[in-house]
Amino acid sequence: MDQQFAKDIVEGLSAAKKRLSSKYFYDAVGSKIFQEIMNMPEYYLTDSEFEILSLQGKQIIEAVHFKQPFNIIELGAGDGFKTFKLLEYLVKTKIDFHYVPIDISQGAMDSLLEKLHQKLPKLSIHPRVGDYFKILNNENINTDIPSLLLFLGSNIGNYSNLDAVRLLQLFGAGMKKNDKLLLGVDLMKNPRTIQYAYDDLHGITKRFNINLLLRINRELEGDFKVDDFDFYCHYSPITGEVRSYLISLRKQTVCLKKVSKSFNFDYNELIWTELSKKYALEDIESLAENSGFKVEKHFLDCKHYFTDTLLIK
Ligand code: AVI
Repeated sequence: MDQQFAKDIVEGLSAAKKRLSSKYFYDAVGSKIFQEIMNMPEYYLTDSEFEILSLQGKQIIEAVHFKQPFNIIELGAGDGFKTFKLLEYLVKTKIDFHYVPIDISQGAMDSLLEKLHQKLPKLSIHPRVGDYFKILNNENINTDIPSLLLFLGSNIGNYSNLDAVRLLQLFGAGMKKNDKLLLGVDLMKNPRTIQYAYDDLHGITKRFNINLLLRINRELEGDFKVDDFDFYCHYSPITGEVRSYLISLRKQTVCLKKVSKSFNFDYNELIWTELSKKYALEDIESLAENSGFKVEKHFLDCKHYFTDTLLIK
């Protein structure tokens, strides 16, 4: 049994306001559902960032302004779809660099490597499977040359303000003086556009959330009846936060045999599962400042939905 998982789930379900962390969405099934989400037309984040990296690769690399060779270290590379165009540009223009994708999932890494070997056989790849903090701080990624870190996909949006600052500080601590960070951030926009991206009509995001209950059933011998839970999410244009919840559709008790615990749910009681924060450009400046970085440049897509922001220490 994964002790940390068990501890976090028990803690979250014992709280007065129940909560489960979205970081546990990504088991094998959850990662597949997330791929489906990224392919939904409503989930504009994927296309927006893809556009930036496809059309502005040259400008980004010029702004990074590194001597060659350099590293591109991608934190949470996943299947690498977003980054592909940037890598392709670099390989085609014969820029001397090493790509270091880091991901916790061996499965995601295997499919990324297969795709890259096939499509960019000349790319120099040094993959690492594991937790990116540990890898960033302990392993010897070629440190004699400068590194551009990529933290894309608006993953930063899944952290509260305080945790986002802590996370960037941790990245900063693992970076050399002249290393740079390209941070993908989803921007505030028409609230309906954001609402549709998370409250999709086909219920894919609902499945993504419900899958966490199935994961708990499997790993902690739980007896969640998934039909007794619904999904709700809400975007507030005032705070910039999408908050996602599971709703208990009846008064019920759920047992987790493996940890010998049971939890009572009231009729319509909520479990908060995810925060997906949207930023204004000024918020990104303050986030950077509070975590020891400075904004060098924002690279936006044509609709101004998303930014890949270049940060320097
Ligand atoms: C991974 N993360 C940035 C996604 C997001 O938009 O918050 C996860 C997600 N949740 C629902 N849809 C997508």
